[in-house]
Amino acid sequence: MSAVALVTGGAQGIGWATARRLVRDIAHMVVIDLDGAAAEARAEELGSGHLGVGADVTDAAQVRALVGRVMADFGRIDVLVNNAGIADQPGETLVQSGEAFERVLRVNLCGTFLVTQAVAGEMLARRQGAIVNLSSIAGLGGIPTRNAYSAAKAGILGMTRSMACEWARQGVRVNAIAPGYVRTSLVEELEERGTIDTAALEARIPMGRLADPTEIAEAIAFLTSPQASFITGSVLVADGGWSAL
Ligand code: NAI
Repeated sequence: MSAVALVTGGAQGIGWATARRLVRDIAHMVVIDLDGAAAEARAEELGSGHLGVGADVTDAAQVRALVGRVMADFGRIDVLVNNAGIADQPGETLVQSGEAFERVLRVNLCGTFLVTQAVAGEMLARRQGAIVNLSSIAGLGGIPTRNAYSAAKAGILGMTRSMACEWARQGVRVNAIAPGYVRTSLVEELEERGTIDTAALEARIPMGRLADPTEIAEAIAFLTSPQASFITGSVLVADGGWSAL
């Protein structure tokens, strides 16, 4: 078992739950996060043979350096989970700041592109790899006043399908997951700012509750696994029934 997996934004929330889940089948986890100290601490928590690296997914030079280090240490990359993301500052479209809009796109969408571009060459050379991109129910339907986030997460779906088709005959699968609301600090911050009302959300969600990060990690693990060998370019919706209503 010498497989290597990278999880961006892996220091907390869904990314950390995913790293903890994937480590059952993966020899070397690489936890990447803007918060380098937290990423290193998480890698230590996982045990020996794992790596924690501080990097900003929006910085192409940092991303290239990080992938170079992983290749030098482990010599291969089998799985990439593009999880790093930020929520937007909700605002009515007419008064929204263009800079804030761009920032949300840069982290969620461009970051996913940059890390994939840096990693995929190695996967294509070995004709083997699985990539999972974090979209959202916000990418499936619109959320009023949150158009930057919706645009970024819908963009991820388009990019996922495009890359999946490009690499389908070369052994590299690319899929997206669209979670509904998940109990992480991202959602807690939205709650604190009054952007979302958890009780109202729970009333709207057919299952009547938010997801635990481990439930999203299980779905991601499936998409990266050999059991998903014929699945590429797809979107796995894990939303407690939100989008079925
Ligand atoms: P979180 O805020 O708990 O964790 C995100 C992690 O990404 C943090 O550790 C943060 O330091 C890191 N990060 C942020 N910007 C980065 C950058 N430029 N470079 C490297 N790392 C960076 O978020 P959560 O809730 O775990 O979300 C993870 C992903 O899942 C995001 O892409 C989010 O949009 C998506 N998602 C979350 C949902 C939720 O309800 N929590 C629902 C649907 C999608």
